[in-house]
Order: sequence, then structure tokens, then C-alpha cells
Amino acid sequence: MIRVGIYGATGYTGFELIKLLQCHPHVQISFATARSAAGKRLSDEFPTLIDLPIIAPEAADPATVDVAFCCLPHGASAPTVMQALAAGARVIDLSADFRLRDPADYERWYNAPHPAPEMLDQAVYGMPELYREHIRDARLVANPGCYPTSVILPLHPLARAGLLADPVVIVDSKSGVSGAGRSLSLKTHFGETHETFSAYNIGRKHRHIAEMDQETGARIIFSPHLLPVFRGILSTIYVTLKPGVELAAVRAAYDIFADEPFTHLLPDGRLPELRYVVNTNLCVIGIQPVDVDAGRYIIVAVEDNLLKGASGQALQNMNVMCGFDETMALT
Ligand SMILES: NC(=O)c1ccc[n+]([C@@H]2O[C@H](COP(=O)([O-])OP(=O)(O)OC[C@H]3O[C@@H](n4cnc5c(N)ncnc54)[C@H](OP(=O)(O)O)[C@@H]3O)[C@@H](O)[C@H]2O)c1
Repeated sequence: MIRVGIYGATGYTGFELIKLLQCHPHVQISFATARSAAGKRLSDEFPTLIDLPIIAPEAADPATVDVAFCCLPHGASAPTVMQALAAGARVIDLSADFRLRDPADYERWYNAPHPAPEMLDQAVYGMPELYREHIRDARLVANPGCYPTSVILPLHPLARAGLLADPVVIVDSKSGVSGAGRSLSLKTHFGETHETFSAYNIGRKHRHIAEMDQETGARIIFSPHLLPVFRGILSTIYVTLKPGVELAAVRAAYDIFADEPFTHLLPDGRLPELRYVVNTNLCVIGIQPVDVDAGRYIIVAVEDNLLKGASGQALQNMNVMCGFDETMALT
């Protein structure tokens, strides 16, 4: 049995993690933190199978756990991560604080100097499909962002196979509202999102561009959209491959995912939909040739932002780190 602690247990990713962990046969949740709900119980916030007191972050003792999950906003997460590491816990950080390898990139995209640059070379980007062997022994796993997961997984095979002719890749992503977290904000409340559809931060503005560029080697032009659903991301990716690359060769690049439990390529002619993946830890990918002579293809990928895009991938990472079956409590 391993003991885990959850910082930020009352947020969307924290609650999703609790729902998953309560079904894990080898996990005991030792503490759950939040500031505003401190003093209540988890069952006061959500109907959960397990019930725990919610404690203030300062009251949590990371020395009592094997793995700490930090489901906190970026900036707030790094000091907690450092404290948990110092106490001997292994850490899975769902925030962006340790995803970028270059502290200058963090400062540029997050408008503040990195709070712990000395830890960046020890943090492993937590995408098992790319870094499984490094994740196994990592003390600190930087869980990827939700949009980036839906872009890096479908682009990585093409970049790795050297098929991209143009490093500029246009990505058009649509996310459910839960991607913005549970805190109240004018942009994401029901009246502002229901029965409408909007783009925001388009071009080279969204912070997630930094990790997409870092992990794909491409230069991403990114148009995020707010979809009037609670969960799910669909990313449409416009790539220019080497002229004349046939569909069979493009598909062959995705053979690296053949044994992956959660990342799947659809058969020819099929495109993925959100309903295929919502409430699962899957990322499902479809390929559409547009002009093979010119190397133009469109790739479509879907995931649940709260699962493969956040807490599901975090649990997948924990399973890898602890030597459990990678799919445990995720299927
Ligand atoms: N939502 C997604 O789809 C998604 C996907 C991938 C990654 N992420 C990342 O995962 C992290 C958590 O996201 P979320 O959507 O779960 O956020 P959320 O719904 O806003 O929840 C944040 C949690 O952290 C606590 N918290 C907030 N500020 C804090 C602080 N300064 N110190 C201590 N605790 C604090 C909140 O409760 P109190 O305010 O009461 O303390 C709450 O429990 C973020 O870094 C986010 O970018 C989110």
C-alpha cells in the first residue's frame, strides 16, 4: 500500500484524482488540502466513497506520504513541491511550474522568475508515451498541460519520424469549460459560455505554446476555443509533411503507439469525437490526407482534459513510478 497526499483537493483536477484513487487497490489517501474548505470533510464538498477531513495546506505533513499530488495553480505549486520533495515524498505536479526546461521560458510565459530553477533538470515531463523510462525513477514529475497533451501526442510521431517539412504547425483546439478550473470567473460562468462559442488568446499568446514547442520541436500557431461543454478537448492540427509522403508512411509513424494502453490511432477514414473519450484516460487520433503531393494532412485528436489531460495522466504516472500496472484504476 502506498500513501498519497493531495494538495488542492477541492479543485476540478483534485476531485477527479480522488475519484480515481478511491478505486486504486494499492493506494491510501493520507491527506487532502484546500484553503477555503479547510475544516470541512470531503463529503461536504463532493459525494466520495472515501471521506477525509480537508486540512489547510500548512497542516499537511508531506513526510507521511510516498507520493504528493499538487493540484494547485502555477506559482502556488512550486513552494509546495519543494517542501514535499524536501520531506522525502515523490511529487507529481499538475501545474505548469516544472514543465519547461529553460527557466527563461518560464519567466517569459509566466511573467515571473522561476521559483526553483535548480530543480528543473530533475523534473521529468510526465507523458509516459514519451518518457516512461525516466518517469519510473523520477522524484518530480511535471504532469503535462491539457491542451499540450492533445497536441504533443499526435504530433510527436511525425516529428520523431522526421516527416514534418514545415516546423510551423497550425493548431485549432476546443476545450470544455472545466479546463479553466473551478474558481469563479466572468469568462467561464454559465451565462457567458452556454450556447455560444469563442476563440481566445489566438496566435502565439497562450502559455501552453511553450511546452508544445518544447516537446515537438515545432513552432505552434495556436487558436484555443472555449466549447460550451464541461469536459473534453478536440484539437485539429494542420501539418505540412515532406511532399509525396503517402498515408501508409504517415500511419507507420504512429506504430510507436501500437502497445500504448491509452493512445490510439483510428482506422483510415475515421475521425475522433469527444464522446469517444470523455470520462476515459484515452487520447484518440485520426488522420485526414488533404493533398498528399504537397504533404498536407490534417490530424484530429481528442481527450478528456481532466483525465488524459490532467488527473488520469497523473495517476498513470504514479502507476509507472510505483511499479504498478500502468492502467490500474484507469480502465
Ligand atoms: N482543469 C484542467 O483541465 C487542468 C488540466 C491540466 C492541468 N491543470 C492544472 O492543474 C492545476 C489545478 O487545476 P484545477 O483546474 O484543479 O484548479 P481549481 O479547480 O481552481 O482548483 C485549485 C485547487 O487549489 C486550491 N488552491 C488555489 N490556490 C491555492 C493556493 N495559493 N495555495 C493552496 N491551495 C490553493 C483550491 O482551493 P482553495 O482556493 O480553497 O485553496 C483548489 O482546491 C492548475 O495548475 C491547472 O493549470 C488543470
